[in-house]
Amino acid sequence: MPLTPITATDANIRLAGEHLRAGQLIAFPTETVYGLGADASNGEAVARIFAAKGRPTFNPLIVNVLDLKMAQSFAHLPPLAERLAMAFWPGGLTIVLDRRSNCPLSDLVSAGLPSVAIRCPSHRVARALQREAGCPIAAPSANRSGHVSATAASHVAADITDPALAMILDDGPCPLGIESTIVEVRGDVVRVLRPGAVTNDEMATVIGGTARIETSVSGETGNTARSSPGQLESHYAPRKAVILNVSAPLPDQALLAFGKPPSGHNGPIVNLSPDGNLVEAAARLFAGLRELDGTSALSIAAMPIPGTGLGLAINDRLKRAAAPRPVDPAK
Ligand code: TXA
Ligand code: MG
Repeated sequence: MPLTPITATDANIRLAGEHLRAGQLIAFPTETVYGLGADASNGEAVARIFAAKGRPTFNPLIVNVLDLKMAQSFAHLPPLAERLAMAFWPGGLTIVLDRRSNCPLSDLVSAGLPSVAIRCPSHRVARALQREAGCPIAAPSANRSGHVSATAASHVAADITDPALAMILDDGPCPLGIESTIVEVRGDVVRVLRPGAVTNDEMATVIGGTARIETSVSGETGNTARSSPGQLESHYAPRKAVILNVSAPLPDQALLAFGKPPSGHNGPIVNLSPDGNLVEAAARLFAGLRELDGTSALSIAAMPIPGTGLGLAINDRLKRAAAPRPVDPAK
């Protein structure tokens, strides 16, 4: 039975904090996508996340913090990482850092790696939950592994039916709608492991003179899977096949439009942004894919989207949604 989401009132957030301390799972909104949280210092609780998502245990989790000081208690922040954190936290930037030797986080959140990915969400509910819980919260996106991320509480309820999920806190749709940008810092280089809510241009304005940003998005300079284990080729995938860069959709296709759609298409259509606005398109992307997936169309045709700014992250997700599937999720 799917769980019914409940409104994220102060009282419900307090209750959710108690569930987290007791080792249960809680789904909650962030400014990017909904997260599936557990006490990151409790190995059994973290294991429940992997089970509830059907996630391979080689794929490490992001750990949320309230501020820079809390991040420093778990990991070492080299100067450039600290600079990024001061500029973009709280917000949509996740930084992969070396764990401290006395790091109290479960090894399972790092999937055995010496690093941990740290994020500081800005969403009111995520921050209030962090304060109430008092423990570090491990929180991947609250979708079934490999599926489209959840940008509404109803998406979580449809995807996660594990009894360990004690509560889904509902605070409406996520304002950004696309996951955080994940970077690692090596000396003067900021390497983008997953493009996301914070764009390269935004990072370029704060990293300072000698530092530089390297992006290796799948299909451009190779696959990033080796350094960010979750960046598998097929991911963020609806059940239907997704076809990219379509300007003339077939009659049996559902259309994921951007800008002015081609005339004469009578099938289902979701327009990510009639005005061609990438911020609006990012916010609608995952809900749009879920909506078209629920239609009777045979496949989903996506119109071309420019690769600038947030378009880099949108195209990264669409490319993975369109990639060949290792196992047919419909079977
Ligand atoms: O916006 C977001 O980041 C959302 C919200 C809920 O916070 N979370 C999210 O988590 O997207 P998830 O688990 O769906 O994606 C996290 C990615 C995965 O691709 C994982 O492989 C990578 O982060 N990751 C986590 N820890 C890592 C590490 N230590 N080194 C490299 N990559 C890591
Ligand atoms: Mg995810």
